Amino acid sequence: MTSGMIRIGPSILAADFRRLGEQIAEAEAAGADYLHVDVMDGRFVPNISIGLPVLEAVRAATTLPIDVHLMIVEPDRWVERFVRAGADVLTVHVEACDHLDRTLHAIAEAGAEPGVTLNPATPLVSLEEVLPIVRQVLVMSVNPGYGGQALIPSSLRKIQRLRTMLHDQNPSCRIQIDGGVNASNIAAVVAAGADTIVAGTAVYSAGRSVAESMALLRGAIAGTTPG
Ligand code: DX5
Ligand code: ZN
Repeated sequence: MTSGMIRIGPSILAADFRRLGEQIAEAEAAGADYLHVDVMDGRFVPNISIGLPVLEAVRAATTLPIDVHLMIVEPDRWVERFVRAGADVLTVHVEACDHLDRTLHAIAEAGAEPGVTLNPATPLVSLEEVLPIVRQVLVMSVNPGYGGQALIPSSLRKIQRLRTMLHDQNPSCRIQIDGGVNASNIAAVVAAGADTIVAGTAVYSAGRSVAESMALLRGAIAGTTPG
């Protein structure tokens, strides 16, 4: 795999919501591979972000794939509605699901790609049994709830171990990383084995255009060989 196959998805959490449509168009023009949409409920995480109406608006504003990260309790109750509102990939937290296998099958039946994720303190073994039925595993590299946090370094070793586990069980499954990725650490993240990157602050930061920020990220991984 070459760095050309690395997918970068801006997280709209860091966008200027007063002009969300323009910020999405800027990401699209800058070559974003998908958009990452963070849904927080104030219970699973100590913050509330956005929900179904905003997702519908994002869906109407872009043809890019939309990757929805549900940071909510009881996500199984919401699967159909988030898929109907525009999620192409729907990712749930292992910590939030009583019947993870059932929820992941429900996502596929609703017509989206099932994704699973885990908090930094949750061991990989907690999702080992569902690896064969997901299209994407998201390794959280910050404690979820806020953009703009620093990447937790042990996430890289977790990605390496996950890459080994997937090699046997589901080699085409994507490994995504979310939280604190920037132009200084993206090469290490890719070298560890992540192929699908979320970047919020690093894309929508003050003082630099979205195009410049995306080019910086791409430049930082040019020539990097994924692990
Ligand atoms: C954090 C969210 C992230 C966030 C990433 O709970 O899941 O998607 O938007 O933002 P940055 O890239 O700024 O860490
Ligand atoms: Zn996220």
